[in-house]
Amino acid sequence: MAMGPASASSAIRLEGIHKHLSGRHVLDGVGFAVEQGDIFGCLGPNGAGKTTTIRIMLGLLRADAGTVTVTGRDPAEDAARARVGFLLEADGLYDDLSAWDNLDYYARLYGVRDPGGRIAEVLDGAGLADRGRDKVSAYSKGMRQRLAIARAVLHSPDVLILDEPTAGLDPGGQVEVRRMLQDLRERGTTVFLSSHNLDEMQRLCNRIVLIHGGRIRLYGDLESLAAGSGRRGAVIETSAPVPDEVLAALRQEAGVSADRDGAAVTVSGGASFEVPPVVAFLVQKGIRIEQVTKQQDSLEDLYVRIEAEARAGAAAGGAPGAGGRR
Ligand SMILES: Nc1ncnc2c1ncn2[C@@H]1O[C@H](COP(=O)(O)OP(=O)(O)OP(=O)(O)O)[C@@H](O)[C@H]1O
Ligand SMILES: [Mg+2]
Repeated sequence: MAMGPASASSAIRLEGIHKHLSGRHVLDGVGFAVEQGDIFGCLGPNGAGKTTTIRIMLGLLRADAGTVTVTGRDPAEDAARARVGFLLEADGLYDDLSAWDNLDYYARLYGVRDPGGRIAEVLDGAGLADRGRDKVSAYSKGMRQRLAIARAVLHSPDVLILDEPTAGLDPGGQVEVRRMLQDLRERGTTVFLSSHNLDEMQRLCNRIVLIHGGRIRLYGDLESLAAGSGRRGAVIETSAPVPDEVLAALRQEAGVSADRDGAAVTVSGGASFEVPPVVAFLVQKGIRIEQVTKQQDSLEDLYVRIEAEARAGAAAGGAPGAGGRR
C-alpha cells in the first residue's frame, strides 16, 4: 500500500489493515495517515468500511492484520486513549440531566482537572454558555450534537474522531457543527470525520480518503486531487457563435478538445491545460469574448467517477479500478 507523505509524528497512521467480520472481508488493506492539524475526511458509500476503520482507530476493534497508531501509540493503550476524543452514533448523553451535569459526570469520569472551569470553556466553545442549566431533553438536535462534541473534547484531546457528526442535522445545525470543528482545529486539535456530505467535506477538509468495498480508492490532499484528476477546462462565452474553421483550428493548434453550444465554447484538456493561451488564440482570430468560467472537478465529480469505476471493478471481479490515484 502506498502511504503518501507521512511522518513518524502522524496523528493517526494505518498500514495494511485487514478485517473480517462474520466471514466477510470488510477491510482489505486499508492504509492512510492523518497528519497533525488536518481536518481529515473519510468518505464512502454505506457499508464501505468507514465505521469499522474508526472502531479500529479507537482500539474498540482489533484488526486481523496491519498496524494502527494514534499519536504514535497503540490505540488500545491508556496513554493513547487519554489523547483521543471521539463521538460515534450513540452520543452518551443523559436526557434527564442538564448539559452541565452531563459534562460534570464525564469530567469526573475522565479525571479532568478544574472541572468547573473546563466545563464552562467547552460549553462556550459549543455556543451553549447560556443553556448549560437546561435539560438535554429540551435541546434541539443541533444543540445536542454540539454538546456531544463538547463532551468528547472535555479532556482536551489532541485528536478528535467523529463518525458522521452532521448526519440528520438541518443546514443551520450543520453549519454550527462545522464551525465548532474549525474552531477546534484552530486551537490545535486534529480532526478526523466521516461524512456522506461531499459539499461539506470539500469545504471543511484539507485531506480525504475515499473507501469503497473495504479498499482505498482515493487518498490525499483535496486540492491536488481535484486539480490532478486530469479534467481541466473552461466555458468561454462569446458574443457570437465561433465559426467552424476557428473551432477546428483551436482543436488542432491549441491541442485542446472544444465543443460549441450556441455562443459558448467548452474547452478542456489534460493536466497541463491553461486557459490564457486558448483565450489569446480566440482573440487573435477576432472572436469577442464575453466571459470565461474555469472548470475543475469537484469532489462530487471525483466521487461519482471513482465509485462507478469501483463498482465496475467489483462486477468484473477484478482489482480496484483506481489504483493509480492512491
Ligand atoms: N459486527 C458486524 N458483523 C458483521 N458484519 C459487519 C459488522 N459491522 C459491520 N459489518 C459489515 O462491514 C461492512 C462495513 O460496515 P461499516 O459499518 O464499517 O460501513 P460504513 O462505511 O460505516 O457504512 P455507513 O455509511 O452505512 O455507516 C458492511 O458490509 C457491514 O455490513
Ligand atoms: Mg458507518
